Amino acid sequence: MSLLNETIAAGWAALQDPSIALPTAGALLAAILLYPALFRSSANGKGVHKLGGLSILTPWPFFYQRYDFLTSGFARTRQKLFSFKVFHHTVFALKGEAARKAFYDSKGLDLEEGYGLLMGSAPILQNIGVYLEPTQDISLFNKYILSLLNKERLTEALPTLFDDIQARMEGWGKEGRMDPFTNVYDLVFQTTIRMATCSELATDMEALSKLKEQYVVLEKNATPIALLLPWLPSIAKRKKLIATKNLYNTMLPYVEKCKGATTPSSDAIDFLLSKGLTTDQVLEFVLNMIFLGLINTGCGVCWTLLFLSFHKEWKHKVFAEVQAIIVKHTTTSGDPLHKRLATVPLSAWEEEMPTLDLVLRETLRMTLSPTALRRNYNDNLEIMGTRIPIGDFVAYSLADSHMNPDIYTNPTQFDPTRFDPGREEDKKETYAYLGWGGGRHPCLGMKFAKLETKIIVALFLAGYEYSVVNEKGEVPEHLPSVDFNDIHQPRPTAGQPCYLKLKRIVD
Ligand code: HEM
Repeated sequence: MSLLNETIAAGWAALQDPSIALPTAGALLAAILLYPALFRSSANGKGVHKLGGLSILTPWPFFYQRYDFLTSGFARTRQKLFSFKVFHHTVFALKGEAARKAFYDSKGLDLEEGYGLLMGSAPILQNIGVYLEPTQDISLFNKYILSLLNKERLTEALPTLFDDIQARMEGWGKEGRMDPFTNVYDLVFQTTIRMATCSELATDMEALSKLKEQYVVLEKNATPIALLLPWLPSIAKRKKLIATKNLYNTMLPYVEKCKGATTPSSDAIDFLLSKGLTTDQVLEFVLNMIFLGLINTGCGVCWTLLFLSFHKEWKHKVFAEVQAIIVKHTTTSGDPLHKRLATVPLSAWEEEMPTLDLVLRETLRMTLSPTALRRNYNDNLEIMGTRIPIGDFVAYSLADSHMNPDIYTNPTQFDPTRFDPGREEDKKETYAYLGWGGGRHPCLGMKFAKLETKIIVALFLAGYEYSVVNEKGEVPEHLPSVDFNDIHQPRPTAGQPCYLKLKRIVD
């Protein structure tokens, strides 16, 4: 799609927000009339290609069709680096191995600010007037995430996670059809809450669904106007504030209850309080941990189930792996499946499921669509000979490596053997595989996310016969495609609904 088309389509989306509809309509009209002059890219003295266009219009395609926008930008400039304006900010889009290496290895590139301004669906308590001590720094945040997801805690949590998943699965009935991107996603939401907050909340279905709703509102209203012009009143901004307040108010009583308890438990909230965090710091932490724990895991589990359903040879191999750990690690008592699986040690989940590991690796390669974002705070940063000024942003689309045919043969084909010893396509270039991030910002939740995926897939494969079906209940010819333009989560493209048809085969 051309940049003009993208701009018109995205401008149309912006017209849906009545508070900004008028200025957008004017700008859109101007863009159409002035297109030939405005959307010409240019190279400055040092050869950096700058996309033309009104800095007030460029944000729309960048926010609503990011993948298409970046792809067409690279095609038009025929460069591995180009820049464009998003309101008053400059963004440098990067492509290729050298840029990727600089992006992931350079000091002074701030991940939180990158995503905060250019993605913007995480809850920010400062926006609702909550004052946080300056000591709440990011390294402490990362340290606590690692502590909350360490081996001991995961081992202790395993039986409860199985109970949570089983309870949800019982709600699906013995036979029927469900939408994985809602039902499996809800299940992942609950297990994330279990690890990030406290038992009482993890079993309060009403509070869970209220919390989930607020995250949805935050995501839907992460519009360029709400993020980049925070002083401008807009409906989106108001909705974001209300959702953040609702998150705060829903979570607050649980933190206060933990605070007032005579005997602290081992739950995450108690752990954080024991480290001396204030109520507001605990709230900020858990609301962000839930956000991070959810954005990729929910869809990751869904796509894994979908690919397994379509690639029977892999489904059989993973099924055999699940049976093998059941035989090796559980007794043949009459306990229900989930109770038996709950006795499998953490080490077996981590080390004895190499096929499922490969399947998940390939699933993430094919589905993880986001553009990684950073803001520069390094006054000496040069990427491929271009100086990146302090305060500017850099953007790297994961599809640049994951969907690159020079790295991955037939990149749109599901083929976990591409990672096998001897083939190892992911080793062809530096950071060619970014499913769990890399360099200075590897994913800190990887162990938990892998465990969560494995136990859900194991319960699913051992407990159900299932197949992917379309709205008519028929097995479709193809799986739905991933919407690479969705900047928040790797969901299926709109208009391609898919369901899982289930039949329970064990008690
Ligand atoms: C399938 C599930 C998951 C996938 C595919 C995934 C993927 C990623 C990726 C690609 C990054 C790097 C982002 C970048 O470079 O811009 C990242 C970072 C991160 N992830 Fe995950 N993630 C998953 C689950 C989780 C979970 C469950 C948690 C925690 C509850 C988590 C916590 C984090 C944190 C804290 C970072 C930032 C690390 C830093 O700032 O240095 N992730 N993740």
